[in-house]
Amino acid sequence: MSTLAGKHIVLGLSGGIAAFKSAELCRALVKAGVTVQVVMTEAAEHFMTAVTMQALSGRPVYTSQWDPREANNMAHINLSREADAIVVAPASADFMAKLLHGGADELLSLMCLARPINQVPLIVAPAMNREMWNNPATQRNVAQLKADGIHVLDVGQGDQACGETGDGRMLEADEILEDLEAFFSPNVLAGKAVLVTAGPTYEAIDPVRGITNLSSGKMGFAIARAARMAGASVTLVAGPVHLPTPRGVQRVDVRSARQMLDAVQLHADAADVFIATAAVADWRPAHSADQKIKKDGSGQTPELSFVENPDILATIAQSPRGASGELFCVGFAAESHDLLAHATAKRIRKGVPLLVGNIGPATFGQDDNALLLVDTSGARELPHASKQALALDLIAHIARQI
Ligand code: CTP
Repeated sequence: MSTLAGKHIVLGLSGGIAAFKSAELCRALVKAGVTVQVVMTEAAEHFMTAVTMQALSGRPVYTSQWDPREANNMAHINLSREADAIVVAPASADFMAKLLHGGADELLSLMCLARPINQVPLIVAPAMNREMWNNPATQRNVAQLKADGIHVLDVGQGDQACGETGDGRMLEADEILEDLEAFFSPNVLAGKAVLVTAGPTYEAIDPVRGITNLSSGKMGFAIARAARMAGASVTLVAGPVHLPTPRGVQRVDVRSARQMLDAVQLHADAADVFIATAAVADWRPAHSADQKIKKDGSGQTPELSFVENPDILATIAQSPRGASGELFCVGFAAESHDLLAHATAKRIRKGVPLLVGNIGPATFGQDDNALLLVDTSGARELPHASKQALALDLIAHIARQI
């Protein structure tokens, strides 16, 4: 379930062409279980109609501080007192300048000024032309808004409505949603660095063939996302998978087990937690041909011999930082049977404080899973749920251990 479910958010629109994305954001918020109260400035109404936003939010939109629907005629007070947060998207350059100076000449800025600042966070998603964004005045305003405790989201980069290319686009609706989810998640790993491996590895036989496995990487990617939600800075070392990088996560793509080990060793020193979810190939071909191996017409098959790959988890767990517990190492075990016995033995063999068991064939490629957490004090089941939900539970469990 989304961390946003049950929240009440006032979605403010100031004037900008990015207002078309606010319609999608509104829909996504409602879908996540949020009640959305839309407030629009007069400028916003030039880009998006109140009718559209009312239809999407299911609530009448407020556009004026003189709105007679409020019995006390104080929409700015009533709306801000009910909110878990005010999200202004798009936040134009002018609107941010106004916020900075405590301007209050229309309902949206008046409501932002009137909000109880310790109870109702204000989150703004800037949207403007790249020159406007890079202008020292805007950058000064952004810095001061942050210093005032206002959460200023990043801007996107790319083609702009004006035909120019650069920084200043409003984030996409799904990116804002993800940032809001993170904002409302308990920050149990704030200040921590988490390193995750995910997906299969690919061990080349020749330039066009290789050995890999059915790991989809979904569990590891979900864990990387959950760690970022919890406030950690996250590095995700991924084998060959076709999954989008979770927002805010630094991704390093690798192919083989040896490349994965190199990448992990590069980042392990800076990490506080290492979670090895990758299905690393246990063996690789002893020789990888430089050129494609051709059939010679004789019916003879090539002879393949194998050598063992390095054990990435064991290498890191048995390094000085891993062995001392300074780096908290978590292993995964994909088993086909006798999960508890195998996971318990594997935890000891790998030398890790926590091992997470799952039934491999049943989970590969699926969106859900069930986990068994095995540590020195015994075993605990995380029953069948989505990989996203399990990842959040696992991260909460790890945060309690470190
Ligand atoms: N692992 C690793 N490097 C390897 C093999 C495994 O880092 N070369 C990690 C996996 O990421 C996982 C854990 O070790 O966290 C266990 O992986 P698994 O394949 O279940 O165990 P193996 O050690 O390969 O044991 P077996 O195949 O005998 O079950």
